[in-house]
Formats: sequence, structure tokens, C-alpha cells
Amino acid sequence: MSQRKIRLGMIGGGHSSFIGIVHRIASYIGEQYTLVGGAFDTDYNRAIDFAKQLELDPSRTYPNIDAFVAGETALPADQRIEAVVVVTPNFLHYPMAKQLIQAGFHVICEKPVTNTAAEAVELEELVAKHKVVFALTHTYTGYPMVRQMKSMIADGVIGDVQKVDAQYYQGWINPVIHDKEKRKSVWRLDPEKAGQSCCMGDIGVHAFQMVEYTTGLKTKKVLSDLNTLYPDNALDVDGTALLRFENNVRGIVRASQIATAEENNFTVAVYGTKGSLKWEQENPNYLYFLQENEPMQVMKPGHVYASELAKQSTKMAPGHPEGIFDSMANLYTGAAKAIRGEAYLEGSYPTIRDGVRGMKFIEAVLASAKAGNTWTEIVD
Ligand SMILES: NC(=O)c1ccc[n+]([C@@H]2O[C@H](COP(=O)([O-])OP(=O)(O)OC[C@H]3O[C@@H](n4cnc5c(N)ncnc54)[C@H](O)[C@@H]3O)[C@@H](O)[C@H]2O)c1
Repeated sequence: MSQRKIRLGMIGGGHSSFIGIVHRIASYIGEQYTLVGGAFDTDYNRAIDFAKQLELDPSRTYPNIDAFVAGETALPADQRIEAVVVVTPNFLHYPMAKQLIQAGFHVICEKPVTNTAAEAVELEELVAKHKVVFALTHTYTGYPMVRQMKSMIADGVIGDVQKVDAQYYQGWINPVIHDKEKRKSVWRLDPEKAGQSCCMGDIGVHAFQMVEYTTGLKTKKVLSDLNTLYPDNALDVDGTALLRFENNVRGIVRASQIATAEENNFTVAVYGTKGSLKWEQENPNYLYFLQENEPMQVMKPGHVYASELAKQSTKMAPGHPEGIFDSMANLYTGAAKAIRGEAYLEGSYPTIRDGVRGMKFIEAVLASAKAGNTWTEIVD
């Protein structure tokens, strides 16, 4: 049965944006959404120019989010934008998401979801109250082989999980951190724009969410060691967090943006009593399955052994690599099912719950480091 597309709006994501294009392409890939308008930029003229480039109706391009909400809610329901993606710098996620939820829009939001855990909890309550869908774009959970990993762990294929190791290493802050002037050009180093953390809020939280997503385990407490590198640099650019789960399970999140010359080296390894699974973001179509006294197996998308969740997340025949746009597209497709009120598999898209967990992780990591590297509980 053919279905009309969901009318999508975008806040941020204009000409100069890094992640906006990933969202636009991802929303297109699943053929569930059509981008109608937005408030794409702080500069209205640039936003209009951007809208022209995308051949959007200029009357649906707004100078700011207030005008967006006012303009769209004044339209008849059958024309109004239904879902809005927030792809602005971190400090704007909470006020913008709040305003959108309260106005009845479904929200697709970038991470970290808010500046504080209390704000994330507030958004969770608002999502329930206003009965809207909230998707948090932890992009990497859309990869078929990450989903395969989740399904295999849930099915007990590797036995009981006893150790988890997630590493997210980038090097792009190394060329700017040693120069005070250059630092000013990076909003992720500015507490007013990034929030409480740089490295842990930007990428450590992806690794943390990946650990909980793939294993289904909940982290009980953390012990962290963070580095700002210079006393006059406010936010962490490198950090390690030891994780404790229930049943004596241990884990570690290692994150760095000064791992010189690393690109986007994000890996997760889960070690169980019967075997282990390992995945690497830079080779996302391979899932490594290790068992004692057996040759290592390399699992790939699109084969008969795929779990239902992995199968639903694969569009091409085996051997056609899928990448970050496809991974993000799977989150959009999952959210579309929720928006349409259709059934969907658990794990189809991260929700505001992941946002609350992520913010509690960030705050616990910061509190642990501040208290001199002590164990700090995540109370949820
Ligand atoms: N999920 C992922 O893998 C991933 C990857 C990169 C970035 N992100 C997240 O996406 C967000 C954006 O990051 P980025 O690297 O694209 O940032 P960016 O600085 O490249 O782009 C931000 C965009 O927001 C616009 N903007 C800023 N203030 C605005 C306002 N008040 N109204 C409308 N537009 C406004 C800017 O003009 C720009 O177009 C961040 O929260 C970041 O953490 C997520």
C-alpha cells in the first residue's frame, strides 16, 4: 500500500553545517519523508539561499525557530510539517526540542540531547505528555552489523556478557588545541555552545550508548579520568571511563579527540562466556565473531543468517557496502514507523530514554573526574 510521505522540517543544517547533509540524505533514502522547510541558519539570507539551492518553497523557510513554530502551526493540519530534525550546536537542542514537542511536532534530535540530565528527564516527560515521537540520532546504531550484534547478544549466542570495551578515537582537535586562537574557532571547546563536556559529550556518549544498545546492560557506576590538556582549556578532549554493570560485568569507554591522526576510529567489542563479537566503524560491513578453538567468522549484511532487525536494516544485496547515510536512514525509517503508529522492532531507533541515559553518563563521568577519579553511581 502506498503511503504519503511525512512532512519534515529542519532546524540548523544549512550551508556551513557538517551533519545536516547526512540527515537530508538519510531522510530521503528510506523514502518516508519529504523536506518541506525549516530555520536552517542563524543568518536568514543564507537560509533563504540554501532553501533555493534545495528548491524548497521560500515561504516555508523561517528566520528562526519561533517563526517556524508560529508559521507551521498556523497552517492546516494537512499541510503542516509533522516532524522536525534539530541539527544545531548542542546548547540549542534542549530549548528547541522542548518548544517543538510542546507545539506537537515529532522530533528527531542530535546528541547530546541536552546540556543536563535534568533537562533530558524533562524532555522525556514532555514526550510522554504530548504523545510525540522523539528519535535521538546515535547514528552508528543504524548499521546492520551493529544490529546483528545486538540480536546475537540478546539471543545468547556469546553466552553471558562479562566484558565490554568501546573505543572512540579521533585526532581532529590535536591541530587546534595547542593554539589558543585556533581553539576559538571550535564551538565544541566552548562550554556555552557545547555544554558540560567536549570529548565525552560529543563522542564518548556515542560509545556509551553503543555499549548499552548492543548488550542491553545498564551501567550502574563509572570511574573516569578526563584530560583538558591545558589548564586554560575548559572542556575535556580525552577521557577514559571504567563501567560497572550488574552481575560483576565490567566495561570501559575510551574516547579521545587528540589521538593524533586518528579519523573516526570507533570500535566496540563484547566478550561473553561462549564467544565474542567485535565491530569497527571504519569497516562497518564486517562483524567479527570469535569462539574458542574455531576460526574467526566474519559476518556481513544481507545473508540468511541476518537477524530480523539486521535484515530490515539492509537495502542492498550482499557485497554492496552501505555506509553512514544508510545507517542514519535506518534510524529515520524506524522513527517513521513510530510516527505512523506502525509496529517496529525494539532497537529500530534510539529514543529520549537513550538521551536520559547518555546525559546521566556524561554527568557521572564529570562528577567522578572532579571528585578525584572515584566511583560514581548512575541513578536512573
Ligand atoms: N550523530 C552524529 O554522528 C553526529 C555527527 C556530527 C555532529 N553531530 C551533532 O550534530 C549537531 C550539529 O553539529 P555540526 O557538526 O553539524 O555543527 P555545525 O557547526 O557544522 O552546524 C551547525 C548548524 O546549525 C546552524 N545554527 C546554529 N545556530 C542556529 C540557530 N539558532 N537556528 C538555526 N540554525 C542554527 C548553523 O548555521 C549551522 O548550519 C551537534 O549537536 C553535534 O553533536 C552528530
